[in-house]
Order: sequence, then structure tokens, then C-alpha cells
Amino acid sequence: MPTKSLEVRLASRPQGEPTLDNFSFATVDLPDPEPGEVLVRNVCISVDPYMRGRMNEGKSYVPPFQIGQAMEGGAIGKVVVSRNEKLPAGTFVQSIYGWREAYVAPAASLKAVDTSVAPPSAYLGILGVTGLTAWVGLLQIARLKHGETVFVSGGAGAVGSAACQIAKMHGGKVLASASSEPKVAFLRDELKVDYAFNYRDGDPLDHLKKGAPDGIHIYFDNTGGPQLEAALAALRSYGRVALCGGIAGYNTPVPGPRNLMLAIGKRLRLEGFIVSDHVGEMPAFLAEAIPALKSGKLTHRESFVDGLEAAPAALLDLLHSGAANIGKMIVRLPE
Ligand SMILES: NC(=O)c1ccc[n+]([C@@H]2O[C@H](COP(=O)([O-])OP(=O)(O)OC[C@H]3O[C@@H](n4cnc5c(N)ncnc54)[C@H](OP(=O)(O)O)[C@@H]3O)[C@@H](O)[C@H]2O)c1
Repeated sequence: MPTKSLEVRLASRPQGEPTLDNFSFATVDLPDPEPGEVLVRNVCISVDPYMRGRMNEGKSYVPPFQIGQAMEGGAIGKVVVSRNEKLPAGTFVQSIYGWREAYVAPAASLKAVDTSVAPPSAYLGILGVTGLTAWVGLLQIARLKHGETVFVSGGAGAVGSAACQIAKMHGGKVLASASSEPKVAFLRDELKVDYAFNYRDGDPLDHLKKGAPDGIHIYFDNTGGPQLEAALAALRSYGRVALCGGIAGYNTPVPGPRNLMLAIGKRLRLEGFIVSDHVGEMPAFLAEAIPALKSGKLTHRESFVDGLEAAPAALLDLLHSGAANIGKMIVRLPE
């Protein structure tokens, strides 16, 4: 039974590009669980672009990380000691306690996950908020209809790869972009998108014209920046944009699209959304995603780094064009 836990803390707030110096490590003593509590050892921890925003001071849709405190976030762990009958030892649980090896928490603050359906890490990716983000963005925000053409930027990432597949499952024709040939091959050969391209190779608009000569109906935006401009130019009249993320501007803000006026003449609808407003729809999403995963219609790709010490570098890398990850970025810890 672990009595100590290593954790990653925010040491200082970055100005622009974060560095490893913005993080620190500390080992804390774990208390014995009280009645109703459990001691959990994490087995996998999520690395997410939104964490960059939480490193900044100031109010956003989630509170900022506190300096000197462990980085909160999604994690899956295994109950090691239980003082709650609903979560016996051996149960895998989901938490938002984030970047730490182990913790003691009230059982009521945790959710058991069914590892007979998929490995624990899938609940941070395709069967977690990642998959839900793609599903909500496409079906509720962009209101995808069968036969429509969808462009997904950041296509080889966690949300993007889920969006590509969900769009295909709902009868969409899919164009998707990523930063390298291996990622483009993943989009083309594994996700079977209709047109995959490297957004750093030529003008993204030329690719969109080639892949969708009649224009696109929907843009699922993970990046903002130049690809949002290209998508605005490629959208058909009454097109929709699901504004999911703007990672091109997370470290250093990028100017808004220079061609936003196109939205007027084309009667476009651009709508931002935050997945945490939609957690009530998780059961409906899972009712579709679990059978699709079991039948092989839906796949999930993950990229792992090992050990909590690797978490800060994994986050810094994720925030760059040309990031190493394909699919969901996960820190794996020994069981
Ligand atoms: N609205 C919501 O509720 C919600 C929920 C979850 C995630 N998100 C957003 O969804 C997006 C994807 O998140 P994720 O968790 O799936 O991460 P991810 O796509 O797995 O990883 C981030 C990817 O962004 C790409 N990237 C980094 N810098 C870029 C740049 N300057 N220009 C273009 N692409 C860049 C990289 O791919 P390449 O190497 O291919 O460039 C990297 O792999 C993020 O913007 C995130 O903030 C929103």
C-alpha cells in the first residue's frame, strides 16, 4: 500500500511559451483512508491542451491552477485500499485529481469504469470527454447531416481522430489535416478519411478545394489560426463551424481570421462550446460509442509516455505543431 505520492505542481505562471521550469515535483505523505474514503493508485493520466489555459492567471471557464498545488485533470486509477463498499479494492475509477501517483479521496467523488469494455486509458480518450467533445461538436453544435462534407483540423489528435470517425459513422465525407506524413497516413489508412493532408505543405485552402471542390458544409475547428481562415473560405452558404479549440494561439495568441466577413454573405454559423456543459449527454454518447468500439467501427489510438516525471514535457510538446502524439496523449504509471 503506497504511503507516499509523487505529484506535479505548477511552480510559476508562464509568459507565452511554457518551459519545464514552470513545473515542480513534490512527494507528499498519504493519510489512511477514513470511512467512506478510498486510496487510489493512478494507472494513467490525461495530458490536455486546456491545461495550458489553466496555467495562466485569471478567470476562464475553469479556474486557474494554483501555484504550488498539484495539476488537476483527468486520471484513471485502481482502488488499493477501500473503506467504501461501492468501490472495493481492485475497482478502476475515474477522477479529476490529476497529476499525482496516488491519493486518498471520498468514494463519492469518483466514478467506477468498466474495464471489461475497454482498457482503463480509453476512458480518458474515446470513451471519455475526448469522445464526447467530438460527438457533441459534430452532432449538436454543427448538426451534421448524412451526406455532408466535414473538415476536421487537428485530425490526428485525440478529439480530432474521434471527430473524423464519428463524422464517417454519421454519413459524412471527411477531410482532415495534420502536421506530418505519418499523421496523414494514419488519417488516410487507419481512419479512412476521404481526403487527408499536411497543413504545413502548401496552402490549406488549396487542399480543401482539392478534397471538396463543391465546398464544405461543416468545419470542426481544433486549431483556429490559418486553418480557420482556409475553412471560412471553403465553407458553403449556411455552413457551420463548431469552435472546439484554438491551439494555434494557446501559447501566443494569433489574430482572428482576416476573412470573418465571409460569415455574413455566406450566412455561416460559428458556435463555440465547452464539453463540461454536456456531461449529461455522456450516457447517450456511450450508448453509441461502446457498441461501435466493440464492433471495430470506432478505433482508438493512444500515445504514451511513461512515469509522472514525463508529464510536463508531454504537455509542452502537445502545444506545438508537429507534436509527437497520434491520438490521445496519456501518461502511463506502473500498476
Ligand atoms: N471545447 C471543448 O470542450 C474541448 C474539449 C477538449 C479539447 N478541446 C480542444 O480540442 C483541441 C484538440 O484537443 P486534444 O485533447 O484532442 O489534443 P490533441 O489534438 O491530441 O493534441 C494537440 C494537437 O494540436 C496540434 N497543434 C499544436 N499546435 C498547433 C498549431 N500551432 N497549429 C495547428 N495544430 C497544432 C498538434 O497536432 P499536429 O502535430 O498535427 O499539428 C497536436 O497533436 C484543442 O484545441 C483543445 O483545446 C476542446
